[in-house]
Amino acid sequence: MEIARSIAEFRALRATVPTLGLVPTMGFLHEGHLSLVRRARSECGAAAATIFVNPTQFAANEDFSSYPRALERDLDLLRAEGCAFAFVPSGPEVMYPAGFDTRIEIGGVTGMLEGAVRPGHFDGVATVVAKLLNITQPTRAYFGQKDAQQCVVVRKLVRDLDMPVEIVVCRTVRTEDGLAMSSRNAYLSPPERQAALVVIRALRAAEADFTAGQRDAGALRATMREVLSGEALAAIDYVSAAHPETLAELDEVGAEGALLSLAVRIGKTRLLDNLVLGL
Ligand code: PAJ
Repeated sequence: MEIARSIAEFRALRATVPTLGLVPTMGFLHEGHLSLVRRARSECGAAAATIFVNPTQFAANEDFSSYPRALERDLDLLRAEGCAFAFVPSGPEVMYPAGFDTRIEIGGVTGMLEGAVRPGHFDGVATVVAKLLNITQPTRAYFGQKDAQQCVVVRKLVRDLDMPVEIVVCRTVRTEDGLAMSSRNAYLSPPERQAALVVIRALRAAEADFTAGQRDAGALRATMREVLSGEALAAIDYVSAAHPETLAELDEVGAEGALLSLAVRIGKTRLLDNLVLGL
């Protein structure tokens, strides 16, 4: 695997392959990230991963400085997957040099859910993803359903700005007991790790109601709240049953299905998960 630390180095590597699948990450890789690399490689021939903990998508009170980092281990994992290239900016000034002064603000789908709790977060995501796509010029770029709103935002970015790349959304990879894999799971103590299972229990309870015929979205949200409130260590940020594309909260689940999503805080760790209901 070739490692580029600057934009010019990456561009030289990019020119050596006809098609490229891109997997943008913030590192501390786990099986969820690696599943994207595998798919990128199998569909595009060559895969590239980016590893950059993007400061502009963290608010001042968030975990930017403590975000887990393990670069050498990440590079070994990428090599083992047959990843062709890694783009690892040698410092934030590679992405944000002195005088950098542009921000992409996406309307409509960024005001709710994560966007409501983390104002400005998706401007930071949209701006860095646009830069990463421009730098790496992939044929396709791979994102995880785990971050459902991010997928909606990135699709909109690419559509609204006519970017010549196909966005591929990949299923959420979970541990055997159902916890969605996340770099932030490393923060959980053993009792918190156990408590975190309430997230998938809440989503699956609402999914079971839906399967049994429940179409009242308020009732699905109530089911998730009820399950979550049974776990003393979990504090609810939000629960949602929303339209899968507009992300507007639903009254009824109709033909387009629904995105069930929730965010909870367990100790200092914020956990995010979702399931898609289809008809
Ligand atoms: P990060 O949290 O490192 O995630 C990188 C990619 O891996 C995202 O597309 C995310 O949805 C996906 N992913 C994470 N956990 C997953 C899981 N359990 N199953 C499947 N996919 C999973 O998301 C970001 O980084 C950043 O916001 C980024 C897009 C890189 C911009 O900075």
